[in-house]
Amino acid sequence: HGWHGGGWNSLNFQPVAPNTEDRVVVPRGYEQGVVIRWGDPVLPGAPRFDFNRQTASAQAAQFGYNNDFCGLVPVPGRRDRWLMVSNHEYTTESHMHRGYDEANPTREQVEIAWAAHGMSVVVVEQARRGGLEVRLDRHYNRRVTVRTPFAVTGPAAGSQYLRTSADPTGRRVLGTLNNCAGGVTPWGTILSGEENFNQYLANAQAVTDPTTKARLARYGISGGASVRKWERFDRRFDLAQEPNEANRFGWIVEIDPLDPNSTPVKHTALGRFKHEGANVIVARDGRVVAYMGDDERFDYMYKFVSDERMKRGNSRHAREHNKRLLDSGTLYVARFRGDSPAAEIDGSGTLPSDGEFDGWGEWVPLAHNNRSFVEGFTAEEVYVFTRLAADAVGATKMDRPEDVEASLRSGRIYAALTNNTDRGKPGKEGPTEINPRPANRHGHVLEIEESRRDNTATRFSWRLLLVCGDPNSSDTYFGGYDKSQVSPISCPDNLAFDSRGNLWISTDGNALSTNDGLFAVPVEGRERGHVKQFLTVPHGAETCGPVITDDFVLVSVQHPGELDGASADNPLSHWPDGGTSHPRPSVVAVWKK
Ligand code: FEO
Ligand code: CA
Ligand code: CA
Ligand code: CA
Repeated sequence: HGWHGGGWNSLNFQPVAPNTEDRVVVPRGYEQGVVIRWGDPVLPGAPRFDFNRQTASAQAAQFGYNNDFCGLVPVPGRRDRWLMVSNHEYTTESHMHRGYDEANPTREQVEIAWAAHGMSVVVVEQARRGGLEVRLDRHYNRRVTVRTPFAVTGPAAGSQYLRTSADPTGRRVLGTLNNCAGGVTPWGTILSGEENFNQYLANAQAVTDPTTKARLARYGISGGASVRKWERFDRRFDLAQEPNEANRFGWIVEIDPLDPNSTPVKHTALGRFKHEGANVIVARDGRVVAYMGDDERFDYMYKFVSDERMKRGNSRHAREHNKRLLDSGTLYVARFRGDSPAAEIDGSGTLPSDGEFDGWGEWVPLAHNNRSFVEGFTAEEVYVFTRLAADAVGATKMDRPEDVEASLRSGRIYAALTNNTDRGKPGKEGPTEINPRPANRHGHVLEIEESRRDNTATRFSWRLLLVCGDPNSSDTYFGGYDKSQVSPISCPDNLAFDSRGNLWISTDGNALSTNDGLFAVPVEGRERGHVKQFLTVPHGAETCGPVITDDFVLVSVQHPGELDGASADNPLSHWPDGGTSHPRPSVVAVWKK
């Protein structure tokens, strides 16, 4: 192996051209293979996938739908084997079942969806001919679904706002929902963000208490029946009966794949919002810092700084200590200021006269364990209704923060601000230096340097690394690099770093009328800003979960064929199985020939 002779020192692949093909396209000299697809067995004894004869019990033992984040944790003592953890963000029933009747789903269809959500833990092994192969490992392989018990931990565990008739303790929740991105912690566990959980909860319109109603509305929860009608089959999804059920989702969850019998947790200390994901770095003093985005137009960026220091090593004592690090600490939200005159941010997207979109900012504390820093909010209210607490301190409204991740090489933080077509619309906030374009269709990538390069600091400086879109357009910026040499990029979503510190970016919703893909860009030296496209995914799909090792790249191909007019009765993608098959979300490995 060792396909790059020691890593990605030079990104010397020939960039993939923009295209609309129904396949994964990789650079010349590289090979690819599907690692696992929706419906493939995860647990030993799981039935083979049969599109025409799906059952909930089969799905609960198979790879779930619409895999998003992907993370690898090494199997102890093995250099060629990992636990691969995937998020199953959401289901699209009209693509999963022929003749699906959206108004009247069957109980079996709903229970298939419960089993198709959640997470998968699968042992994968480097294959002799390249790529990765799945092992049906009896010890480690695991499925987490909407029925898996989670323990609620941290300062809001047991809160009055988390109690329901099924769980009067407010400390035990069944399931995780809409798990989007995530991160691998330095202690070998996986964090995963519960993102658009609002869509699963019905009948907010029947809630009469005005405070409760306003809180639900701030999280996008209003109206009557839910899209998938789960409330007909489990009353907890009916807010008229269980108004607190909504508060039991929207958390960062942590799962320990190395301990298959462990109960995964929901960390209340990291706040409740539409969590894209969370990524942790160990600060110089040993405390850990988690960076997070709330993926909504005009929502915020957060960080959490732990009270305790991480313990090194893999002893049981160290691991159990580290798994509690995210339960006590300080939660902050970001406030940004530009350094150029407001008149120079004219909405054209052209650079201000100092040559950069840049400035400084501060992390505003919201709460530390049982102490609130926000007037009018108890600590418990800060944690459970974090968006409202952040509103109250005047946090900076961003263009949909997706992944926020520190480079372990430099400690600098990168954030994907995917797009915000509402910026500058009547009644909405207009462009500012940090979000400089009105009707921002293509998004941008932000770089932050903490004061004294200390990740626990409360002050920072920032600049935009990329203002995405067509490089021929005057409202784009590629870190100062020659724009005639870069790949077009639109709607950055997930971020990863290779061993050399290059930034890798996957996209979702490419607004340049071509397929989504994966891009690499150096952030240091003369090549800073030289964006090169490494692969494209089939039409209708988004690219997510990138994992970049020196030997292979993994991407999640989420919702292939999700195109206008497509359905299980009229599939418009046949990837990856070809012929007349239905598309299947999958993990793909890419390696050098
Ligand atoms: Fe599920 Fe923010 O993407
Ligand atoms: Ca400036
Ligand atoms: Ca995402
Ligand atoms: Ca996305």
